[in-house]
Formats: sequence, C-alpha cells, structure tokens
Amino acid sequence: MLIRKNQTGFEHPVPSEITPQHFYSGRRDWLRLMAGGAAGAAMATWASREAFAQGAVAPVRPGKLAALAAVKSTVAGATTMEKLTEYKDASTYNNFYEFGTDKADPARNAGTLKTTPWTVQVDGLVNKPTRFALEDLLKLSAMEERTYRLRCVEGWSMVIPWVGYSMSELIKRVEPQGSAKYVEFITLADPKTMPFVGSRVLEWPYVEALRMDEAMHPLTLLTFGMYGEVLPNQNGAPVRLVVPWKYGFKSGKSLVRIRFTDKQPATAWNKSAPQEYGFYSNVNPTVDHPRWSQATERRIGEDGLFAKRRKTLMFNGYEAQVGQLYAGMDLRKLY
Ligand code: MTE
Repeated sequence: MLIRKNQTGFEHPVPSEITPQHFYSGRRDWLRLMAGGAAGAAMATWASREAFAQGAVAPVRPGKLAALAAVKSTVAGATTMEKLTEYKDASTYNNFYEFGTDKADPARNAGTLKTTPWTVQVDGLVNKPTRFALEDLLKLSAMEERTYRLRCVEGWSMVIPWVGYSMSELIKRVEPQGSAKYVEFITLADPKTMPFVGSRVLEWPYVEALRMDEAMHPLTLLTFGMYGEVLPNQNGAPVRLVVPWKYGFKSGKSLVRIRFTDKQPATAWNKSAPQEYGFYSNVNPTVDHPRWSQATERRIGEDGLFAKRRKTLMFNGYEAQVGQLYAGMDLRKLY
C-alpha cells in the first residue's frame, strides 16, 4: 500500500518505485517455456481450462498444503471465467504488512505465523456473542469455490479461485441486533510471530470494516482457502475476508475478531492516510487516487514485453451485483 510520509513518519513506496515485474517475469516465462517445452506449457493451460469448463473445482491445485474440498458456487457473479493467476504469483506477490512491506516479504517471513489453535471472537451488538474455534468455522457452512478478481489500490490485479462461504452465514448465527450498522474485522497482531507488528508502518492491529449490508452481501466471502487448498500463511491463513468489489486492502487477513457496532469504525489505512484511503474504497476507475490514476490496472502474470494495462471496471466488474448498495451516494466524496 502506498502512502506518502504519514503521521508515523513512514515513507511508503509509490508504484513507479516498485520493480516493474516484466523485468524479471519476462525472463521467468521464457525460462519456464524452455524448461517445460512450449508445447507442454500450452497443453497444461489447455487441460486446466478444459477441466474448469467441465465444472471441476480448483483447476490449479498445487498440492503443497492440505486440500480444502468445495463445490462450485452458484451465487450470482461468483465465478469469472477469466484466466486464473498462477498460484506461484498469487502466493509470492503479497501485501501483508505484519510481515514486511516488500511484495516478497510475506512469502519469505510468514512461516512463523502459528495458525493452530485459532479462534475468532464474534461479538458487539449481537444476541449470541460466540468465540468460534477454527474447526467449527470450517464446518459452519458448505465450502464454495469462487473465482474473484482482486484489484489492489496500487493498480495491479489477480484472478484467484478462493474457497469459503458467504460471510452472511456466520453473521446469521450470532443474531445481530437492530442497532448494528457496521462490522469491524480485527486481524492478528502478534509481535512474537509477526516481525513488523510494532513498527510504525501502521497502527496495529490491522483493522478493516464494512457497512452491515456490505458484510451481508452474498459475494462477501469468509475465506479459508485458495486453489483447492487451505490458505498459505502469506495470503491470510487460516481465515480472511475477500470483498471482490473493493480495493484489496478491505480484505483483512488472519482474522481474530469480528465486532458489530453502531458507529463507523476507524480502519487501518484510513487512520494512516485519510486523504488517500476512505472508508468505502470501492473500486472506481473515475476516482483517482490523489497521486495516480485508477483508470487501468496491470494483471499480475501478464507482464510480457507487449502486455497492455487493462481498463479497470466500476466496482471491479461486480456492478450488476453490488451497484444498488450505493444508490444515491456521492462516490467521489465517499471514496
Ligand atoms: N490484511 C492484513 N492483516 N495486513 C495487511 O497488510 N493488506 C491488504 C489485504 N489484507 C493486508 C491485509 C492489502 S493492501 C491487499 S491488496 C490484500 O490484503 C492482498 O491480498 P493478497 O496478498 O492475498 O493478494
């Protein structure tokens, strides 16, 4: 995430300072083709597309972590047919500031994250506050595979087959009270296992929040896995949020507490740089970040010499499903 020197004095990089990925990925693609043979690589792509077209879930299961079985979701908009980002890219190009600010840091450093035992406290304005053990959360509802675009505010995007179920399933169990208007998502801040917690990069713990109707929307995914397996640590194990129509930072990783409240919560990036990151953070190509345009995006893995940036879509392409949540709102003011 990218902000200029903020109240904490931390200097964040801007996109132009990040090593252009094509410098190394072009060479990497070439090496891969040489190693596997161009025909072999084409066959593998064809086979995974074919399996996907036939309704198989998790077409690119890398086989490194425990498998997480799922059925293909029937929720409207839950499955884009766009080409999947390679697992290798999705699990090595990350934002998880608790483990460092470089894109490669989370994959390098998150091995220390201890994901068992794990509980998620769900409380605040609810009739049934509950501390859920991860094992119970895993059984709470049927796991679905949803292939969502994730678009980062920095101007890059990926297409990832996530595994989880609608956040609304969990919300219903705790019976929110009528006064609950917002849901706050609080993530782990453990200085013993997370080397950057305690640094002045952000205020810890990392906190995100949604309005109640956003949290209840069927596309909002309580996420336990990706590519048919449990989440790797660097992607937010053992449980995170994925909100596909918002910039990636709204999707908090390694959740430990979910709290229902009547007041709009202060969120990590908004506290850090309010002029750059608002509460809503809907993907919106017509509202520029104060320091760069949001009109286009770079799809990770498409960084060849001739790759063009893609046009960013309103609500990240989920306008038909979520546009009505914001009817009548001035999305320039409420960015
Ligand atoms: N959650 C926590 N706890 N800490 C973080 O630094 N970064 C956010 C979000 N969730 C972040 C987080 C940002 S800026 C993005 S773009 C996404 O995670 C990236 O998710 P990914 O690494 O799985 O692609």
